[in-house]
Amino acid sequence: DSVKVFAPASVSNVGPGFDILGFALEGMGDKITLSKRDGTAYIIDAVGTDLPTDPEKNVATVALRSFCDEIGYQGGFLIRIEKNFTPGSGLGSSASSAVGAVFAANELLQAGYSKEELISFALDGESLASGHRHADNVAPCMLGGFVAVKGCDPFDGFQVAYPKALKVLIIFPDIVVKTSDARGLLPKEVPMSLAIQQAANMAGLINGLTTANYAMIRNSLKDVLAQPYRKRLIQAYDEVGKLCEEHGSIGFNISGSGPSMFSFFRKEQDLTQLKESIKELYSAKGINCRLHESAINGRGAEVI
Ligand code: HSE
Repeated sequence: DSVKVFAPASVSNVGPGFDILGFALEGMGDKITLSKRDGTAYIIDAVGTDLPTDPEKNVATVALRSFCDEIGYQGGFLIRIEKNFTPGSGLGSSASSAVGAVFAANELLQAGYSKEELISFALDGESLASGHRHADNVAPCMLGGFVAVKGCDPFDGFQVAYPKALKVLIIFPDIVVKTSDARGLLPKEVPMSLAIQQAANMAGLINGLTTANYAMIRNSLKDVLAQPYRKRLIQAYDEVGKLCEEHGSIGFNISGSGPSMFSFFRKEQDLTQLKESIKELYSAKGINCRLHESAINGRGAEVI
């Protein structure tokens, strides 16, 4: 009795969509194999990365417990987590594990919940990692594509159509940024003028995505609430943004709470030169930098 699923990595805080807009990535994520076992214990087998093996401290098992408590299932599990990207990268690692666990349990136990209904259980795991309840990684990881979040418990939100020709470059320098620290930098209140700018940019971004208006996407992909405080945690942030702009970027920003950054491009744009320049920029500072060119994942969590 076992099931294997894939839960993609994701970019949250998409420009003005701080805490409310994210999208799923192709080629990065968690493969989770969930098997029933005798007894009531949850056993974690993490492959490819160091993850907590205490079920009270692992986002996957905390989410799994929350879902099983809801449906009244008391059996034990072996959960094998294969991660092909790095926790703490700003690419929704904890969301992938939490979503993968509850999505797999729903399949294995044939509980019949919709993906939308599963989101708040995944959030119980995700909030353990970040100390805050936001669904801008969990929702796109579960549903795929771009997802805007209006509320978390229960999930309220919608998928946003996007141009099929859109691709994304992920830039992941080897710098440590903790989500809880990155949240601690933010002011508790914002001036009215900034709130208005953010709302206007969000409206512009949704319009640009749904109508494939690249100029609108580019000039709306600005975050005036979090990015000005957080970019100082990411060395060479402005220089990377400038390089992306010189190579025809359709918008550049921090992915999640960093240190990863993302930039949109059209599928036909050749990024070879840009990628070399970014690598050189970081290696001159003695920092390793990984790059991932990806399509948008339109499927979200799936059985594999
Ligand atoms: N919206 C979240 C934040 C994403 O910025 O704190 C990171 O998990």
